[in-house]
Amino acid sequence: MAEAPSYDRGMDTESFRAAGHELIDWIADYRASVAERPVKPPVGPGEVRGALPVEPPSSVEGIEALLRDLDEIVVPGTTMVQHPMHFGWFPSNAALSSVLGDLASSGLGALGISWESAPALTEVEEVVCDWLRQLTGLSDRWHGSINDTASSSTFVALLAARERATDHGQTRGGLVAETAPLVVYTTSEAHSSVRKASLLAGVGADDLRLVEVDPDDRSMRPDALEAAITADVAAGRRPMAVVASVGTTGTTAFDPLDPIARICAAHGVWLHVDAAMAGSAMLLPECRHLWHGVEGADSVSWNPHKWMGTILDCSLLYVTDPEHLVRVFSTNPSYLRSSVDGEVTQYRDWGIPLGRRFRALKLWFHLRLDGIEAIRARLRRDLANAQWLAEQVRAAPDWEVVAPVLLQTVCVRHRPIGPDGVPLDGEALDTHTTRWLAELNDSGVAYATGSVLDGRWMVRVSIGVESTERHHVEALWRHLRELAEV
Ligand SMILES: Cc1ncc(COP(=O)(O)O)c(C=O)c1O
Repeated sequence: MAEAPSYDRGMDTESFRAAGHELIDWIADYRASVAERPVKPPVGPGEVRGALPVEPPSSVEGIEALLRDLDEIVVPGTTMVQHPMHFGWFPSNAALSSVLGDLASSGLGALGISWESAPALTEVEEVVCDWLRQLTGLSDRWHGSINDTASSSTFVALLAARERATDHGQTRGGLVAETAPLVVYTTSEAHSSVRKASLLAGVGADDLRLVEVDPDDRSMRPDALEAAITADVAAGRRPMAVVASVGTTGTTAFDPLDPIARICAAHGVWLHVDAAMAGSAMLLPECRHLWHGVEGADSVSWNPHKWMGTILDCSLLYVTDPEHLVRVFSTNPSYLRSSVDGEVTQYRDWGIPLGRRFRALKLWFHLRLDGIEAIRARLRRDLANAQWLAEQVRAAPDWEVVAPVLLQTVCVRHRPIGPDGVPLDGEALDTHTTRWLAELNDSGVAYATGSVLDGRWMVRVSIGVESTERHHVEALWRHLRELAEV
């Protein structure tokens, strides 16, 4: 009889312990030194790839070789979004307490395909989602689950909305058998993931309505929504969902949920609230007026992996009717059935993936090791820093704040007098803005994001990195003036 081939079992627990300690030390050293590095690395396309071997490794290496490559290749090829001078996109905080939770999740190696495959994974998620519900002031009508991203949360919500609008058409001929086109309503200011989710849910671009916004604050106009729904119904279309934004990506605009929810209820339309970024603000009671009316929605999602600071990926999706999700997403094959079905939550039936990670541990560690009051104090610090910056900008000649500053993002333009004696406008203003923004970002000293507002470039200063203090915002303001006012 042939002998079974022998094989090397890979890393055992003792070598894991030794390498793991080295890795933790490496992470701690790296995070302690982030502020000394350029925010945007001077790295070009293909440079990281070019530094790596083309062939896969043919022999076993030690952790030292990996840590060296992290230092020499990976870190110099990474934009430092944890840098205190990072003011780009949105705060993508990665609280070290939540990093430990992420490590615990990986280390446990739990398999989240059913309650039975990981009872604790399911029940810690239920509890932690409920903690966050309470901490954001939502009523106990809401039931939460954790998705990877807001893009997925919105997609799940729109699939649920589609099935409600068609009375579970998927159990018959599906979308192709529907006679009336389904329509989704949002605004031009909504995140691109809303359009993506609508298209993927089967609503074509022709039936995605961009409802008119208020020109002053860019929030959805309820009267325009009502008119659009009424016109679609009269034309034989079926309104399927409204996606309202609580804090848009461009200017942090807030759609008025209360009147929108009433319109949705009157027409039987699903209301999904995308609060991906601004949901963190709802941890602060004084900000909750910004989503007044949220209780009238059918689903709401927000990302602790943004401003709140739980490490990616962690997006909460709350619904008022989880039974509806189960009807839409349940597959229930024989090999996943168990004797406790009916008594337990099967999160695989609340969304798309079968196998789910133990993401709840990130939130569990974050809340327990840092504490909600420290998180709230940091958010309040950022709100105050944004107001401080807005005051400086408003008071400085030729500078303007171009959108209301309701949270931690300040949208600015510098508009100096041009050679013809009038303030720069049109293409000349765009050339000026993009020039000083590129110089800022290429300097490595700080980073901010450009965005087009009313057809013209402006600069979004998104304050909220965990380590960003007032003196960093002051330094940024000095730097902006030096670059723009030449
Ligand atoms: C309002 C809003 N919605 C959705 C998203 C998408 O988030 P995710 O990357 O989690 O899909 C973002 C990201 O910036 C956002 O600001």
